[in-house]
Amino acid sequence: METIEEKLSKLVSDTLASLNDINSDLDRELEDLRVSVMGKKGSLTEILKGMKDLSAEMRPVVGKHVNEARDVLTQAFDQAAKDMEADRIAKQLAAESIDVTLPGRPVKRGQAHILTQTSQEIEDIFLGMGYQIVDGFEVESDHYNFERMNLPKDHPARDMQDTFYITEEVLLRTHTSPVQARTMEKHDFSQGPLKMISPGRVYRRDTDDATHSHQFHQIEGLVVGQGISMADLKGTLELILQKMFGKDRKIRLRPSYFPFTEPSVEVDVSCFKCGGQGCNVCKQTGWIEILGAGMVHPQVLEMSGIDSSQYSGFAFGLGQERIAMLRYGINDIRGFYLGDQRFSEQFK
Ligand code: PHE
Repeated sequence: METIEEKLSKLVSDTLASLNDINSDLDRELEDLRVSVMGKKGSLTEILKGMKDLSAEMRPVVGKHVNEARDVLTQAFDQAAKDMEADRIAKQLAAESIDVTLPGRPVKRGQAHILTQTSQEIEDIFLGMGYQIVDGFEVESDHYNFERMNLPKDHPARDMQDTFYITEEVLLRTHTSPVQARTMEKHDFSQGPLKMISPGRVYRRDTDDATHSHQFHQIEGLVVGQGISMADLKGTLELILQKMFGKDRKIRLRPSYFPFTEPSVEVDVSCFKCGGQGCNVCKQTGWIEILGAGMVHPQVLEMSGIDSSQYSGFAFGLGQERIAMLRYGINDIRGFYLGDQRFSEQFK
């Protein structure tokens, strides 16, 4: 039969061997082993049961061995637990380590929306020519949007700009032209001529497709003073269109109709892609229709309290989307409003 000492030394060596083999990732394994050896019903307790059969003189001798074995085991388990913890921390640190020599990640920078860029560019050009930039209201009255623009109730030309009514008298503006009337009636001509542009959003009851949107952006332009003529209109538009589309551009005026200008014109710019030979951008005509303009109708001046025998003016309205679509070859107007970064990021 094995003696208690033999059993003890076997238990110690077996346990140490098991501790060596233990999976250091599994706390559970260590704990199970500890309980099976040191626990109340563990192997050590089992061996100690044999003590009662020992003689009185042998008991202290064997007892000393028992204590030594328990100390060795306790220490081995403590050490194993510490090693496991250290091992886990080391692994975690290795996984999380920061390489301070790595170059930094570039901060992703956004950019202004292409329409904002377009209007800012146009604003800068006009600011340089002494124009003021005026804000208007997107929710307008019928009075300013139509009546003061020489479009009385039941005027057939109202059909060209059907819109969203809030009440019979309040609507979403169909164009930036009401800003003309709002600015004219406030202007003090003793301080010099009125020169302004007004960028902003407008609304029409349109069905959305690749080239139409129920809301889009215009820039209104207005100059009123003494002796303002069609030549001033033409010179101004030529300059701005050359800045936008290249210094070799020519412009062409075609007769048109707007109730608030007389005469009214459609303004074309010579094609910036083919230079006038004819291509897909200009639909083989060499010219691109770009904006509407004209001399401010005397009636519109008078309604704003301006003496049309003394003063005259020109006005124009351009579509921001149209300008941007032409310049950047954008073929679907809906792209402007999607908020899709893949669209926006192209215009850095
Ligand atoms: N308001 C016109 C439109 O939206 C454009 C325009 C403005 C025409 C000023 C002439 C003068 O169609």
